Amino acid sequence: MGIKITDKVTWVGKIDWELKHFHGNEYSVRRGSSYNSYLIRDKKNVLIDTVWSPYDKEFVSKLKNEIDLKDIDYVIVNHSEPDHSGALSELLREIPDVPVYCTANGAKMLKGQYHQDWNFITVKTGDTLEIGESTLTFIEAPMLHWPDSMFTYMSGDNILFSNDAFGQHYATESLYNDKTDQCELEAEAIKYYANILTPFSKLVTKKINEVLSFNLPLDMICTSHGVIWREKPEQIVLKYLQWADDYQEKQITVIYDTMWNATRKMAEAIAEGIKSAAPDYTVKLLNSSVEDKNDIITEIFKSRGILLGAPTVNNTCLHSIGGLLEMVYGLKFRKKYAAAFGSYGWSGESVGLISEGLKKAGFKLVSEGLKYMWVPDEEGIKACYDFGADFANQIK
Ligand code: FEO
Repeated sequence: MGIKITDKVTWVGKIDWELKHFHGNEYSVRRGSSYNSYLIRDKKNVLIDTVWSPYDKEFVSKLKNEIDLKDIDYVIVNHSEPDHSGALSELLREIPDVPVYCTANGAKMLKGQYHQDWNFITVKTGDTLEIGESTLTFIEAPMLHWPDSMFTYMSGDNILFSNDAFGQHYATESLYNDKTDQCELEAEAIKYYANILTPFSKLVTKKINEVLSFNLPLDMICTSHGVIWREKPEQIVLKYLQWADDYQEKQITVIYDTMWNATRKMAEAIAEGIKSAAPDYTVKLLNSSVEDKNDIITEIFKSRGILLGAPTVNNTCLHSIGGLLEMVYGLKFRKKYAAAFGSYGWSGESVGLISEGLKKAGFKLVSEGLKYMWVPDEEGIKACYDFGADFANQIK
């Protein structure tokens, strides 16, 4: 069943309670997700976005309960990624001539994915579509989250259909931001930003400022994942402006992997040293081989500085730290401090390699790092403690 959100707009998406991972296995999902699709009924009927393909038949079948498909005048594809375009083939098989509004990149990407020559109408920022009492205005939003992404603004109801932007992987029957658990919502929204949108932060700032300059009245932001921002929708816009501005809190995070606990002992002593030097900072200690990788990224996103540690094995570091370095390289964090540490038995390359990786990923290295041969004794623990304190003193 659809859920009426205004006289003209009905939510016709799919809540995916079972989802455990997204983007393959790159993004862990703890509280499900949703693929939000919206049906606008004015003088013309418009469908905005669809759902992921495992739910395509269910989506089309339920949509038929809402409207005779032949009465849909336009389909708008704000973004061609499969989680939103996955039901297009099933839908357009029944209404093959319906105009499909998307950006020029969107048309290329849909053709590349579905190999169909649908009735594409390509649009640019400022193009409009009159649908009766309301007008739809298109706003290109490249890289939020793919080159094809766009927003659609509906006058009258004053709704911004933002697709991925302002979304969360968060399943809730409540649908609206003011009806959900605020801690869960904040946690999922920041995880989503940190893990998906961080590399595009400069574009986020630019796009939000551009949209704000239009002075459009805004009653709701209808995203494509998670809640509809109905109560104070500007709150998530302001959060995005903060998060996009090289966000950091007074937090230092120590992340390590360990084989026989020597590097763990180093990590714990380093954390104590940080706490002693920066008592007003939050200090977090995470073992990257057992913690969720996306939660670690969220903690890095919140941090002013990080310390990454691993012992040397086979002339390199352990794979969980290697994988994390790949992730932070892609996410392009800025203005964050870092240092490496780790124990070793003979060759001892890990600290140098981690330092190189951190530098390549754009972190500001505070030191050459700390290597310790075998298991730290009392003197070694003191050296780690001092290393942590020195790190904190340099960045706080
Ligand atoms: Fe929710 Fe970029 O797709």
